Amino acid sequence: MRKLVYFIASTLDGFIAGPDGADPTGPDGFWPIPEDYVAHLIAEYPETLPGPARAALSITAEGAHFDTVVEGRRSYEIGLKAGVTDAYPHLRHLVFSRTLGESPDPAVEIVATDPVARVKELKQEGGKDIWLVGGGELAASLYTEIDTLIVKLSPMTIGAGIPLFGRNASFEPAAWALRSHKVLASGAAYLTYERNATTLTVSS
Ligand SMILES: NC(=O)c1ccc[n+]([C@@H]2O[C@H](COP(=O)([O-])OP(=O)(O)OC[C@H]3O[C@@H](n4cnc5c(N)ncnc54)[C@H](OP(=O)(O)O)[C@@H]3O)[C@@H](O)[C@H]2O)c1
Repeated sequence: MRKLVYFIASTLDGFIAGPDGADPTGPDGFWPIPEDYVAHLIAEYPETLPGPARAALSITAEGAHFDTVVEGRRSYEIGLKAGVTDAYPHLRHLVFSRTLGESPDPAVEIVATDPVARVKELKQEGGKDIWLVGGGELAASLYTEIDTLIVKLSPMTIGAGIPLFGRNASFEPAAWALRSHKVLASGAAYLTYERNATTLTVSS
């Protein structure tokens, strides 16, 4: 069965964005993107680049990993506010939201029902893996369904912001097994973990 993969950029202290929830990698962002990080992304995960970036870089590769992308409404709205109604036109695109209503784009499916149930259905349909873009709140909703965690680690700390699993995640320890790693000269790293069947015992 295909997997749900949380493929996410994180600081060393576990944040995916600053406290304001804006795009940290945008023109006014604080998050540096090293050249070797981008080169690795283009070589290994070209399908995770947004459509406008793919067009600018003349990237047409389908990519080996994902054919479907799921994201939370607040992450989706970052592109929407910039006039991009479908940042991933080369992938099947689902946005989870109970408030958006009608989709701004015929190619984007708005899902107002339980994300866990919808992701279970998507897994059953087969195909390449499903990319969970984020953000933290949706990742927390899908915590138990995440099979693979690919952390794109940036060599920086920010002290406060939106954590990997949002601000309201439950305390639920899980073990992950390191499957591969790529450490770059810039200090950024791509770390791939699979959910470990071992259950962690938490003493109270
Ligand atoms: N570092 C990275 O690689 C990366 C990647 C993506 C995003 N981000 C950052 O993440 C931030 C946004 O993350 P976020 O945690 O604030 O928000 P988010 O997870 O993107 O979106 C939250 C929204 O998703 C919907 N949602 C979440 N759980 C749901 C559930 N159980 N059922 C139905 N809908 C559900 C809700 O929409 P409604 O309120 O409409 O119901 C909720 O308000 C941004 O700053 C963005 O830049 C970073």
